[in-house]
Amino acid sequence: MDVEKRIRELRLLLEEHAHRYYVLDDPLISDGEYDRFFNELLRLEEEHPELVTPDSPSQRPGGVPLDKFEQVVHRLPMLSLENAFSADDLRAFEDRLLRFLNQDMTSASLSYMAEPKVDGLAVELIYEQGSLLQGSTRGDGSKGEDITAQLKTISSIPLRLKDPSLPRIEVRGEVFMDRQALTELNQERLLTGEPLFANPRNAAAGSLRQLDPAITAKRSLRFLAYGIADSSQTPCSSQEELLSWLGALGLPVSELAHPCASISDAIDRFAQLAALRHSLAYEIDGMVVKVNAFHLQQRLGNKARAPRWAIACKFPATQTTTRLVAVEFQVGRTGAVTPVALLAPVEVGGVTVSRATLHNRDEFERKDLRIGDTVLVQRAGDVIPEVVKAIVEKRDGREQPIIMPTHCPVCSHALLKAEGEAVTRCVNPHCPAQRLRSLIHFCSKAGLDIEGLGKKSMEQLFNLKLVEDIPDIFALRHEQLAGLEGWGDKSADNVLAAIEAAKQPPLGKFLTALGIRFVGEVTASLLEQTFPTLEHLMVTSMETLLEIEGIGEQAASSIFDYFNDSSVREMFVRLQEAGVAAKAGQQLQGNQPLSGLVFLFTGTLTTLSRTEAKKLIKDNGGQIATTVTQKMTHLVAGEKAGSKLKKAKELGKIILTENEFLQMIHHGSLTETE
Ligand code: IVH
Repeated sequence: MDVEKRIRELRLLLEEHAHRYYVLDDPLISDGEYDRFFNELLRLEEEHPELVTPDSPSQRPGGVPLDKFEQVVHRLPMLSLENAFSADDLRAFEDRLLRFLNQDMTSASLSYMAEPKVDGLAVELIYEQGSLLQGSTRGDGSKGEDITAQLKTISSIPLRLKDPSLPRIEVRGEVFMDRQALTELNQERLLTGEPLFANPRNAAAGSLRQLDPAITAKRSLRFLAYGIADSSQTPCSSQEELLSWLGALGLPVSELAHPCASISDAIDRFAQLAALRHSLAYEIDGMVVKVNAFHLQQRLGNKARAPRWAIACKFPATQTTTRLVAVEFQVGRTGAVTPVALLAPVEVGGVTVSRATLHNRDEFERKDLRIGDTVLVQRAGDVIPEVVKAIVEKRDGREQPIIMPTHCPVCSHALLKAEGEAVTRCVNPHCPAQRLRSLIHFCSKAGLDIEGLGKKSMEQLFNLKLVEDIPDIFALRHEQLAGLEGWGDKSADNVLAAIEAAKQPPLGKFLTALGIRFVGEVTASLLEQTFPTLEHLMVTSMETLLEIEGIGEQAASSIFDYFNDSSVREMFVRLQEAGVAAKAGQQLQGNQPLSGLVFLFTGTLTTLSRTEAKKLIKDNGGQIATTVTQKMTHLVAGEKAGSKLKKAKELGKIILTENEFLQMIHHGSLTETE
């Protein structure tokens, strides 16, 4: 056998399949087959070390740890961008372009590329004769750091381009981390007590600036190419062509880059991207608008730090600073005491924020937050605002430490922090705060969804002692409600009608509403599938509960204890007297098409809404997972599926398209297509 030839073959094969997997998200072979080729290459290279080249796929895991980063002088400076914040700023950008280009141009002769501005770290990749020679950070724009070994660990960066005849190109792009990967990394760091990364840019920078590339390799980084140092190195005449050309060379480019015929088109595109950004797998902080034609880019040229032909239009900030005025301790439904920061009201990403969760005691101690501190606050997507860190430089010595209370702020019962648990809890089952929270949960959308009994009204009824426990809800009378502040005859009638309509909830929904610890929607539906009625569940044994697939020790004993508590039993008697009777649920039938299967959705579905898809699964006896876990059996991947898809593949899970999923529901199984 010609070893050299086989090695070349294997490298080509591995490159092609890595490209399909990491860049096109469209693999042709299984992970097992890929590993077999890879191992064969490793073996041959080990036997013939003289044949190892730096661009071999075997060289990805990175070399030895470095002592320090070497400096790299960029042949052409890596510029930054000027910012725009509004449609007016974008129009002013075009006015400047037209003034600079002089009379021969009109607005109609300018077209643009609009690209997402990915929040990560700018890097330069130098390819010579198609092979990755060097990678570096932007640094100060003229000099950066050599992070070749670190960049080689990123699977979506090709070590060789599809065209080995190109003498040299300097590709520019962004290294970043998906939201999910960042969340997981931070969860890990929370456990190990390491400081959390405030945003994907810090996470990407922190991961790339590791002297030991083996650490970078563990960090699920991604790369998207967006430009080139010198457009005359390419056969392209516009940014649009450049992106397709880079894609054809095997480099990942954004699918969201969009040609715009006019600046108004770009303004429309900005609104679209702003609406889309939270559904993306990664964080984008704006949109970059670039004059499309290279000959015009050349005429426009650069200013000191930024090109004249491009501008970054930023989304409203999602991080800002404000003062931490005080800390309030909230008692939740399960007794968990959560510290909440009360902030001087401030606008973050278009919303006024005056409160932010501090999660738990470990979190605020680790961040060393103090009352009176100036703090960095962030809102990511639609999630609740969060305090990222204190700005230590702004302290004047008058800041006060935050002290975790030893007793419940509501019922004064001693608080308990179990060993190894982050949560401090009020363990008094009669604590009014817990009771109120449970009542709010019972009536909320996650519970029986009783319209008109939201948080505010429930607080009012609870404080007036009209509703102190769940059965009280069903005993409410018109004359008790109609005269209350903010109520009238009509609203009283409406609420009473909604309560009446909630008297026969499906068993699973009812169990979720009760708020039994460790019983969320999934466990509740398992119980519903196993027990024909609530009465069956009330008399069941620990053994029977433990036999249910998907119910663990903790949940089983929580359920068992709950139904054997005398006050719970009294509550059920009163509920029954009030006419509340949970409807027997759908029994688990072996012949239901999806029984025993656990589904997760990712990406954008085109025919079904998420709610419809979930309902289809439930109606067919399946379960729904919220993250990729071992328990999950099927991942339904819609368009633009990202990290969940990757993880599911790594775990060897079954991946379905939306169509295949629909087929499975309609035919009971997948018809063989290949
Ligand atoms: S073009 C000369 N395109 O934004 C052009 N930059 O503030 C320079 N960025 O340092 C950059 N996505 O890290 C360009 N599609 C994109 C980008 C992008 C993100 C970053 C890049 C740069 C910063 C400029």
